[in-house]
Amino acid sequence: MVRFTGGIELFEERRKLICHVLVEQIKSFFTYDADRQFYAKIFPGSVDPESLKHIRKMKTTDIDSVLAIEQSVYKYPWTRGILVDCMVVPGYHCWVCEDEHAVFGYAVLAIGVDEAHIMNLCVSSDAQGEGWGARLLEEMIGVAQEKPIVDTLLLEVRKTNKSAIGLYKKYGFKKIGERKAYYPTENGRENAVMFALTVS
Ligand SMILES: CC(C)(COP(=O)(O)OP(=O)(O)OC[C@H]1O[C@@H](n2cnc3c(N)ncnc32)[C@H](O)[C@@H]1OP(=O)(O)O)[C@@H](O)C(=O)NCCC(=O)NCCS
Repeated sequence: MVRFTGGIELFEERRKLICHVLVEQIKSFFTYDADRQFYAKIFPGSVDPESLKHIRKMKTTDIDSVLAIEQSVYKYPWTRGILVDCMVVPGYHCWVCEDEHAVFGYAVLAIGVDEAHIMNLCVSSDAQGEGWGARLLEEMIGVAQEKPIVDTLLLEVRKTNKSAIGLYKKYGFKKIGERKAYYPTENGRENAVMFALTVS
């Protein structure tokens, strides 16, 4: 009886080992994110969820998710109309970052002549502090650098927004001025700090 149970356990262990080796061999043929997502669906647990997080271009079907994050993170959020406009206005570039389940951050960049402008950069509260704000910012800096017509990357940020200011300074943005009473607050208005990064 004992030996019989042991035989089943051994068989089960070998079966798991063979399955694991097979899955790894199949996975080793593929290197792309899309394939990782495919394997995560077919063999749940075989792919590290962290490796499924990625940045991609925003689609109109993302607007609901983006709006939900916008409304949960900002006291004075953009409207659906503004987000929709960002997707269609020439020169605007929009990205999201997502995991296997949902979008958890986004960024909007407007490219003009001489200057590009960071219009929005936002990571959902539960995903902040994991490096995705920085990755989205790198994406925007990379696109601005690729455009020969763009010399400078500009942005405005609330004077009290320590995390965003910390992020922009880390990437070499320099303060170039302040716009007085630019943003609404619960008690009145707040200055915007203007930052610039040379990208030419
Ligand atoms: C600002 C924001 C996008 C940063 O994204 P994030 O994913 O939380 O930040 P990251 O984990 O990528 O951090 C990158 C860097 O940002 C800075 N930073 C992030 N959080 C910070 C904090 N609480 N205080 C100071 N600096 C901070 C640090 O320099 C950090 O680098 P480090 O980890 O080496 O110290 C995010 O906090 C956010 O969405 N805030 C609400 C929306 C917003 O204010 N957007 C900016 C509009 S201008």
